[in-house]
Amino acid sequence: MTDFGPAIATAYRAEGAVISLGRGVHEGAVVPEAVVQIPLAMMNRHGLVAGATGTGKTKTLQGIAEQLSAAGVAVFVADVKGDLSGLAAPGEQTGAAAKRASELGTAYTPAGFPVEFLSLGGLGPGVPVRATVSDFGPQLLGKVLQANDTQEQSLDLVFHYADEKQLPLLDLSDLRALLTFLASDDGKAELEGIGGLSGQTVGVLLRALIGLQDGGGEELFGEPMFQIADLLRTAPDGRGIVSCLELAAVQEHPELFSTALMWLLAELFEALPEAGDLDRPKLVFFLDEAHLLFDGATKAFLDAIERTVRLIRSKGVGVFFVTQTPKDVPPAVLAQLGNRIQHALRAFTPDDAKDLRATVSTFPKSEFYDLAELLTQLGIGEAAVTILSESGVPTPVVHARLPAPASRMAPADDVDAAAKASPLHAKYGTRVDSESAREKLAARTAAAAQAAPTPVGAPPEPEPEHKEAAKAAGGGVETVSKFLQSRQGKQLQRQVVRGVFGMLKKRL
Ligand SMILES: Nc1ncnc2c1ncn2[C@@H]1O[C@H](COP(=O)(O)OP(=O)(O)O)[C@@H](O)[C@H]1O
Ligand SMILES: [Mg+2]
Repeated sequence: MTDFGPAIATAYRAEGAVISLGRGVHEGAVVPEAVVQIPLAMMNRHGLVAGATGTGKTKTLQGIAEQLSAAGVAVFVADVKGDLSGLAAPGEQTGAAAKRASELGTAYTPAGFPVEFLSLGGLGPGVPVRATVSDFGPQLLGKVLQANDTQEQSLDLVFHYADEKQLPLLDLSDLRALLTFLASDDGKAELEGIGGLSGQTVGVLLRALIGLQDGGGEELFGEPMFQIADLLRTAPDGRGIVSCLELAAVQEHPELFSTALMWLLAELFEALPEAGDLDRPKLVFFLDEAHLLFDGATKAFLDAIERTVRLIRSKGVGVFFVTQTPKDVPPAVLAQLGNRIQHALRAFTPDDAKDLRATVSTFPKSEFYDLAELLTQLGIGEAAVTILSESGVPTPVVHARLPAPASRMAPADDVDAAAKASPLHAKYGTRVDSESAREKLAARTAAAAQAAPTPVGAPPEPEPEHKEAAKAAGGGVETVSKFLQSRQGKQLQRQVVRGVFGMLKKRL
């Protein structure tokens, strides 16, 4: 049999910077020579952190996040339970973390990290992250509304109609106003003009929308919209900023927050240029409770996730999914996760046993362990690890005992105060309500009630401030280019650049 220590040390050796995953364990003992680590350059090859509740997934994520920050890489983490906020504060000099370091034969140096606390639309502590309905796009919105294929396609038609008629969909009341209009007698002819959209589906979408409005959608959708470049910052000392999206307050709306996470990822995808292989990623994105993203998703939605994950790697972004078992992740996505950190699985019920077998089958064969046995016997903060080496080769599975985070394992003291003190709070703290579809449709209905009915299919009457732009639109090349520079012109151009998930495409 191969000698464990040197075999692991060789397989995991790296020339460049690394993220430490602790030391290998063999025959019940830590083997100091068996250094387990992920090359920083391989962090864009994505990863999976899996395991039953309480096995150490979140602390693993915390430890990786802080090492990335220290290496100057920006990090985004979804803090579903609020237990990652401790990233901002140094850990305790004595206690579980220090004990773990001594087991691994390393020094324990407590440290806090530069953290930006975010929240969805200001629900709970954190700088509010908002998206406009239009930018969110029909597919992601369809996912939140738990729409089926037909409903999702219908939403797509409604978005195109809004683009065409220059009805800005900023918040949910805009979409609601538009759907209400299409369902009304006034809107009937318009509805018929949008081939393939049925009044019945509009009704279903309207009802779903009301549910979403109460379920956090009211807060999430609107302006000012979060600018994705704010996730890609470094602190003055050169460390990467950890953006910590605090989700505890919206825990009971998993469809909302999981889709919002996908929106952020898709925004990154749309905004970042191709970067090729870098010596370290620009950002690593951790998607906690990842199964929620895939549950009940349409084929089109799953395809869009798969494509985003596949292509975002060459833009310098690594994505780590955090979930209970690998089976939560669709095979086409799982196949792209080069770095695997599998914490303990339970094997109580027949279903558990089936999961266990399925998980074992996703790992390479091991010369050192019986994997089914290993996966059920791993201690807290231990994992079965296989990663991509610097040369891109999968490493042998190793039972790793992971280091504890240098930051605090318990939540931070005052997330709310920290968020309010941030410069981002000045930028995003207050909601603004610009003129949008709701006002435009209301004005139109009022005008129709007063005077002769508006001719069916006519574009909405331009507002005074848009008159000039509208006039310009009637002229030659020069005036057209002037029109395209105008606010309305810009709005019009946006409709042709809806990308992945039907989102608006943009550049940083
Ligand atoms: N690497 C580690 N070193 C020391 N203790 C750990 C480590 N990982 C986890 N723990 C302990 O286990 C507890 C549960 O871990 P956690 O990451 O919250 O589990 P999960 O996210 O899988 O539910 C933590 O609060 C901590 O006390
Ligand atoms: Mg957890």
